[in-house]
Parts: sequence; structure tokens; C-alpha cells
Amino acid sequence: MTIHVSARANIALTKYWGKSDRALNLPAVPSLSLTLDALETETSVSFIDAVDDYIEINGAIATGRPRARVVEHLDRFRAIARSDRRLSVVSTNRFPTAAGLASSASGFAALTVAVDALFELGLNREELSSHARRASASAARSVFGGFVELPAGSAGDDSLGAREIVLTPPWELAMLIAIVSGREKATPSTEGMERTRETSPFYRAWVEAAPGFHQQALHALAARDLHALGRAMERSTFAFHASAMAADPPIVYLSPSTLSLIGAVHALREKLPPAYMTMDAGPNLILLVEAPHAERWLHALRERPEIESIVSSGIGEEARIVG
Ligand code: DP6
Repeated sequence: MTIHVSARANIALTKYWGKSDRALNLPAVPSLSLTLDALETETSVSFIDAVDDYIEINGAIATGRPRARVVEHLDRFRAIARSDRRLSVVSTNRFPTAAGLASSASGFAALTVAVDALFELGLNREELSSHARRASASAARSVFGGFVELPAGSAGDDSLGAREIVLTPPWELAMLIAIVSGREKATPSTEGMERTRETSPFYRAWVEAAPGFHQQALHALAARDLHALGRAMERSTFAFHASAMAADPPIVYLSPSTLSLIGAVHALREKLPPAYMTMDAGPNLILLVEAPHAERWLHALRERPEIESIVSSGIGEEARIVG
């Protein structure tokens, strides 16, 4: 029997950066994200008669840390299922590989839903989200579709999971993911946030300020106030980057192209419908717009020399079994 699961990546509006419990992978700050339709990962799992798990990611056999993270996740499920069976895990990102986008969120959300089904554990969504969080906290959010909140965790509370914020009727927002050229290899987020926590004099200020940005974003979401939501997102984004930049050695995710593009977005805002920006642990710039305006921004940004490629995405659904 093979279980196939599809999950979507998400982009945080208010950012998770820093852990309150490293062993349990609990976030020190709350975060809010949007699951994106265009960024899909498909993962297939089955039992195999072998000594070791077989882990394949994007067509290549995984080794080193990427393999170890998957095997550790499988080990947690084997412990729950009281099984020592080995698995085959084949995971493929359907989004453009040049995108350079972190796939751990969609990857671990898909893996969690798939392994739960394979072991016939019957965990509910909240439990699935909590398990996905142990592997990668942003993956807790990709278990759900739409707008998703992951609260901060207190040390020792391994039950923490994300929750979906349902808006009725839906609010049709879109994101444009601008992949900037000339990118360098970024510090992985797990490493970057640990270094920030350990060495940045601005980490404490970040942890204190982040819940305020998050509350502003939640209120803006309830009021469907794009300006207030975008402002909270930008404040969270720049505060997180500032805290990382003050680490020792510094962590600078934004490239010259990103900064040039930030200036261009400021200028374009004068004549285009409202749009707000965010950047994750890398140089790509992501724009939040109302869906009917996505095309105009796409058109304007296609002219920009800093951009290698650009993906437009609507809101994505929860991780689910597709076969
Ligand atoms: C900047 O979820 O990748 O994208 O829990 O260590 O796996 P781990 O970190 P991860 O961090 C994501 C950081 C971010 C902001 C966010 O998505 O909230």
C-alpha cells in the first residue's frame, strides 16, 4: 500500500523566529501564515522490507541532515505506533525548482499526514499539526489551508499545534513570489534563529515586539483591513531581519537585489493598488495583494531586472491524501 499526500507551502505574515524549547521545537513567538496554492509538495510513503528507510527528495536520495530530519520524524511515529517497520518516502516539490523556496513546511506537513495514514493512527488535525511542528514549526501551519495561526509555545508543552482562521465569506488575497537573481546560499532557518537567540542583542527586543505585530495582524484579518495587515506584516518582517542582522556573525538574508526591489515596490505603490512585502530566510521578495490586483502587479514586476522569475499564487488548501 502506498499513501500519496499533497501539501502546500505557506508564507508567514507575522514571522516565527526563535525557539522557546529547542528539544521540542517550540516557537518563542506567535506566527500567522497564508497557505499557498501554487507551492505544492507531493509525498508518497509505503512500508519496505529493508534495514534502513529509503528517503528520496526531488529525485535524489537524501543524505546528511535532510535525511536525518526525515528519519527522526519517522522514528517519532514508529514510537507511537510501536512499530519498527522501515519506510520508503518519496517527496517532490511541484513548484519551480529555481524558486529557491523553503520546502520544509509543505514537505513535513505532507509527510506527517501520510505517515499517520500508513500507520493507521487516526490522529486529528490538531494532533497532526503538533507532530508536524516537531519536525519544522512552519510545517505545523501547512497542515491547514488558508490563514493559519501558530501560537508561541511554552517550554515543555509538546501538544502545541496550529489552528486555521476561517473567514466567511473568504477574503481573496494573493501572493506574488519574486525570485531574485544572484542569490547566495542562505543560512538555514533553524541555524539562523538559534544564532540570533544566542548572540543578537536585538533578539530580546524581537521576542517582546513580535506578539504586538501578531495581534495587529489578527485584528486586521478580522476587519479585512489590507493596509493594517500589510503594515503588521512589514513590521514583523523587518524586525525579524534586523534581529538576525545583529547576530554574531551577522545573518544577512537580503541581497542587493532585494533592497533594490524594496525601493521599486515603494515607488510602484504610488501608482498601483495596495501591496505589501515580506521576505523569509532568503533574498526573495513576496508581495501580498488583493487577488483582483495580482495581475497588474505581476505585469509591473515582470519589467524589473532584479527578478529571475515570479510565481503568482492564490490561497491553498489543507494537506490531504490524494491517493
Ligand atoms: C523565516 O519552520 O523552517 O520562514 O522550526 O527550525 O524548522 P524550524 O524553522 P522553520 O522557520 C521558518 C522561518 C521563517 C518565518 C516563518 O515561516 O514563520
